[in-house]
Amino acid sequence: MNDPADCAALHIRVPSAGGASSHILKESLMATETHVEELEHIEELDAIIAAGQGTAGALIPVLQKTQQLYGYLPQTALRRIAETLKIPFSEVAGVVTFYSYFTTVPRGEHTARVCLGTACYVRGGKEVLRGLEEKLAISPGDTTEDRHFSLEIGRCFGACGLAPVVMVDDVVHQRVNPNYINELLVQYAVRDDADETEEPS
Ligand code: FES
Repeated sequence: MNDPADCAALHIRVPSAGGASSHILKESLMATETHVEELEHIEELDAIIAAGQGTAGALIPVLQKTQQLYGYLPQTALRRIAETLKIPFSEVAGVVTFYSYFTTVPRGEHTARVCLGTACYVRGGKEVLRGLEEKLAISPGDTTEDRHFSLEIGRCFGACGLAPVVMVDDVVHQRVNPNYINELLVQYAVRDDADETEEPS
């Protein structure tokens, strides 16, 4: 996975835009010029951008914080970041599409991250991923239509002795096997249903 935190720490040069995916994102953003989506948390976003102004290499941290704010990177926010930081929009699009960490699609209520680090991979992580893909009917990086689950791939959560590991939100599920997947998913569905039907005290 292209993790911006890793690359930033290693001072790897930010890629310039140019691939097909960045071209698609650029086209998409151009289209929003006639239909600017409403953006919530605008003051928080402006504060995030302002903190990065005048700082070399600020783009990735600003994008990370923006994604933390919204759960994804709204197209209008990307344009605002580019304009305010005076960075060519093509460069912003290139960074967003290069790092798999970034997403321009709203994420699900829950995010399942399947570890495919070495220990998890050799102990069946790939089969666990395949099982989740089949049950959720989505691929890594995607979100179910009902926005309940997003699926991602991770590279070691520091629990190698418990491999294979799946993290759902902040909860580590250890020694997962494909037979556990139904149980895992139902567990989250049941919990949400219980929350929704809970009587106010
Ligand atoms: S390889 Fe999966 S937790 Fe370390």
